[in-house]
Amino acid sequence: MAKKPNKIWAWHKRVMEQNSLILTVGIIGVVSIGGIVEIAPLFYLDETIEEVEGVRPYSPLALMGRDIYVREGCYACHSQMIRPLRDEVERYGHFSLAAESMYDRPFQWGSKRTGPDLARVGGKYSDEWHRDHMRDPRSVVPGSIMPAYAFMENTPLELDVIPGRMRALQRLGVPYTDEMIDNAIEDVRTQVDPFSANYDAFLERYPGAPVRNFDGNERVVTELDAMIAYLQVLGTMVDFSTYEADADANLR
Ligand code: HEC
Repeated sequence: MAKKPNKIWAWHKRVMEQNSLILTVGIIGVVSIGGIVEIAPLFYLDETIEEVEGVRPYSPLALMGRDIYVREGCYACHSQMIRPLRDEVERYGHFSLAAESMYDRPFQWGSKRTGPDLARVGGKYSDEWHRDHMRDPRSVVPGSIMPAYAFMENTPLELDVIPGRMRALQRLGVPYTDEMIDNAIEDVRTQVDPFSANYDAFLERYPGAPVRNFDGNERVVTELDAMIAYLQVLGTMVDFSTYEADADANLR
């Protein structure tokens, strides 16, 4: 004996499935519930990123390094986001916090890892290692397929564009002060010269920034200085000894 069709299904078939317009409106209605649940709360939050102590805007030299990183397309092979998974945390260190890339515009999370993640490469190698690696990656990692960027050590860093770039970021909400922008070019020179008279003022503006001659060439500030200054600060701004307990809880 054939089963009597359920009334609701019969209605569904007659009204919804046989009328494409009603079906479309129905689908849009159902799908947007998911969207509303995800998006609506964001309108009621003042901040989506929790501020974390230690995170500050890049020094002008590191900022230029970042721009060179973007210009050269390093993100095509390198990500800058350590996910909270056991294997990643053991290989690269503490997983990335949202606050650590809050001043990155555009962010450099990346989606491709032909090379390793660089979110915490700061302090992992010496400046000399980076110098050799940029000049000829095979000289330090024999099987490397990374291209050489030897021209950077011979290319003087373009200084006069820096204040304009900082101004643009300031408009976008990065907390660069006018004082930082006015001193930008001087601060670039200071960061490669630990004996500069401007040393203390520089460190007050950019606490914890490394100050030394990154490329080993004291005559001119090069793109390699900027690149290494940037790489050496990646992932070093937050003192994770204060966050360790949290991290373990998240991994369990
Ligand atoms: C074609 C892909 C590719 C591109 C483009 C590339 N890299 Fe790499 N990179 C690699 C690979 C593969 C490795 C691992 C082998 C090595 O250390 O050379 C690597 C390693 C590195 C390391 C060492 C990381 C570690 O933890 O050992 C750094 C730093 C680095 N790259 C920086 C850069 C920078 C800066 C740029 C842009 C100027 C860049 N890479 C562009 C593929 C690439």
